[in-house]
Amino acid sequence: MVSGGGTGIGRAIARRLAGDGYRVVIVGRRAEVLEQARAEIEAETGAGRVVPLRADLTDAGQVARVATAIAALGPVDVLVNNAGAVITAPADDGLAALAESWRRDLDTNLLTAVLLTTALQPHLRRPGGRLIVISSAAAQRGGAGPHSAGSYAAAKAALHGWAFGLARLLGPEGITVNVLAPGYVADTEIFGDRWSERFHAEKIADTLVGRAGTPDDVAAAVAYIASPAAGYLTGQVIGLNGGAVLGR
Ligand SMILES: NC(=O)c1ccc[n+]([C@@H]2O[C@H](COP(=O)([O-])OP(=O)(O)OC[C@H]3O[C@@H](n4cnc5c(N)ncnc54)[C@H](OP(=O)(O)O)[C@@H]3O)[C@@H](O)[C@H]2O)c1
Repeated sequence: MVSGGGTGIGRAIARRLAGDGYRVVIVGRRAEVLEQARAEIEAETGAGRVVPLRADLTDAGQVARVATAIAALGPVDVLVNNAGAVITAPADDGLAALAESWRRDLDTNLLTAVLLTTALQPHLRRPGGRLIVISSAAAQRGGAGPHSAGSYAAAKAALHGWAFGLARLLGPEGITVNVLAPGYVADTEIFGDRWSERFHAEKIADTLVGRAGTPDDVAAAVAYIASPAAGYLTGQVIGLNGGAVLGR
C-alpha cells in the first residue's frame, strides 16, 4: 500500500514494489492520475499488479472505506505513508490565517499517515509487516520562510515521535516501523509554482554529491526496508539527502 502512489516519489515506490513482485494499492484524490499510473506501471510489470483507490486521506470516513477494500485483498506486507504536500503559506499576517494554514499542513502531512496506519493496523502482516513513513530533511533542519510558516517541518517532525511509539508497539508482533527522510527530490509535483531553476540549483548546492535526489533513489531505499534483509532495522529515521544533512 503506497499512499500518494499516483505521482512523484510514491509512484516510483509503487513501480519498484510492483517490479519486485508485490501487488500494490495506490491511493490519492485524483482518479485520472491514479489510473494513468496504474496503466503505465502495469505496462512495465504486468497486468493486475496495481490497484488504484481514490480517497482523501484527511477524511476519516474515506480512510475507513480504504481499509474495508484492503481487508478484502488480504494482509498488507508493506504500508508506505507517502502522501503529503507543502501547504501554501498563510494568506495574510493574521492569526486566523496562520491557524488555518497550520491545520491544513498537519492534516495533510500528519493526519493522513495516522488515519491510514490506524485503519490498516489490524491488516498488517504478522510477523514480517513493514511500516514506512516518508518524512523530510525539513524535519531535521527546520524550514520556514516565504513559502512556509514552519508548519511543514513541524508536521514531518511529529511523524518521527509517532513512528517511534509505533515501533515499540508493533515490534513484538514482528512488524518494523521506520522513517525515511528525503532531502530534495526533483521531478515530483510537490513544489508546483515554487519550483524554479534557481531553487533547483540552490538545493543541489546544498548536497555533497552535487545532484538532486530522484524518486527512484527513495524507491530503492523503500525496497531495502521492505525486504526480509532489513528485519533488524526498526525505530529509525533514515536520512536520504546526498549529504545535505549530516549524521541524523
Ligand atoms: N520532493 C521532495 O523534495 C521531497 C522531499 C522530502 C520529502 N518529500 C515527501 O515525499 C512525499 C511525496 O512527495 P512528492 O515530492 O512525490 O510530491 P507529489 O508528487 O506532490 O506527491 C504527493 C502525493 O500525495 C497525494 N496526496 C496529497 N494529499 C493527499 C490526501 N489528502 N489524500 C490522499 N492523497 C494525497 C497526492 O495525490 P492527490 O493530489 O491526487 O491526492 C500526490 O500523489 C511527501 O510526503 C513529501 O512531503 C518530498
